[in-house]
Amino acid sequence: MKILVTGGAGFIGSHLVDTLVQDEHEVLVIDDLSTGRKDYVNKQARLEILDINDESLADVVANFSPDVVYHLAAQKNVRVSLEDPVLDAKTNILGGLNILDQAIKNKVKKFIFVSTCGIYGDTDNLPTDETGPEQPMSPYILNKLTFEKYLSILGQDKIKWAALRLSNVYGPRQDPYGEAGVIAILLDNIIKNKTFYINGDGEQTRDYIYVADIVHALSSFLDKAEGIYNIGTGEEKSLLDLINNIKEISKTNLKTAHRDAIVGEVKRSCLNSGKVGIDVDWKSKYDLKQGLELTYRWFKEER
Ligand SMILES: NC(=O)c1ccc[n+]([C@@H]2O[C@H](COP(=O)([O-])OP(=O)(O)OC[C@H]3O[C@@H](n4cnc5c(N)ncnc54)[C@H](O)[C@@H]3O)[C@@H](O)[C@H]2O)c1
Repeated sequence: MKILVTGGAGFIGSHLVDTLVQDEHEVLVIDDLSTGRKDYVNKQARLEILDINDESLADVVANFSPDVVYHLAAQKNVRVSLEDPVLDAKTNILGGLNILDQAIKNKVKKFIFVSTCGIYGDTDNLPTDETGPEQPMSPYILNKLTFEKYLSILGQDKIKWAALRLSNVYGPRQDPYGEAGVIAILLDNIIKNKTFYINGDGEQTRDYIYVADIVHALSSFLDKAEGIYNIGTGEEKSLLDLINNIKEISKTNLKTAHRDAIVGEVKRSCLNSGKVGIDVDWKSKYDLKQGLELTYRWFKEER
């Protein structure tokens, strides 16, 4: 198949591209390299360095004429989205619509959007299934939810689509800088012997999922299942659990200190992924220890 991956030079996107190439698909990556890296893009994929808002997008998509589009390109920094909601909407709404519009015009068979579990906010419905509340707490999350709504409206008769609400993803190539994933920050701090600051009591929980499990889920949607799906492990781990696991794996005594909790930070998060289990026969394979070992090894070698 001919597959277009926006954001394919980023953390999750570059792993997805590796798998699609391995499965002998023809892959075009569109990425402006704002957070992604050229050297992460598989040499057998074609990279077009382009903003998804660029006028030339129409020609690029038409010339490639993809069968399937994976849309991962995003402004994903929550703080930036609060400080500059216009910038966030430009990428996450207008840029997304630009890709979706081209996908419709080029009669793409399936549009797969990477969304987030952040949509559920703080809820007692744990582990949360797809009927959980919609409680966006930042423009970034609001725009992910809004784009899902565009898909459900335009998807009624124009295009087949799936939106995958990912839990907290970690693994090799994740950027430890800025507002990064906590596991990337923890591993970077261990390697650089820096103190890790725990926001609040450290009892906040997340559903941490290894990137290879995410790629497996994403690729399972190529030719089956439509609509909204959670992708998580169903295992709820606190930040303190995570720190203990990382200390054990790295055999180092990570220095930690507490600071004030972040106002508005979600206290507990964990996904029920039963629906994807039934519809595409997917389930996470890596437990936290295995995933952390692989990620730690990569951080030690690469950084
Ligand atoms: N990492 C997670 O835990 C997580 C969880 C839920 C959802 N997601 C979603 O998964 C997707 C990928 O996230 P990631 O963690 O790999 O982040 P990432 O920053 O590594 O990847 C995003 C990619 O999009 C590119 N990009 C950004 N703006 C662009 C634009 N205007 N035009 C073209 N390319 C642009 C970046 O250069 C980067 O390569 C995002 O949509 C994110 O919202 C991530």
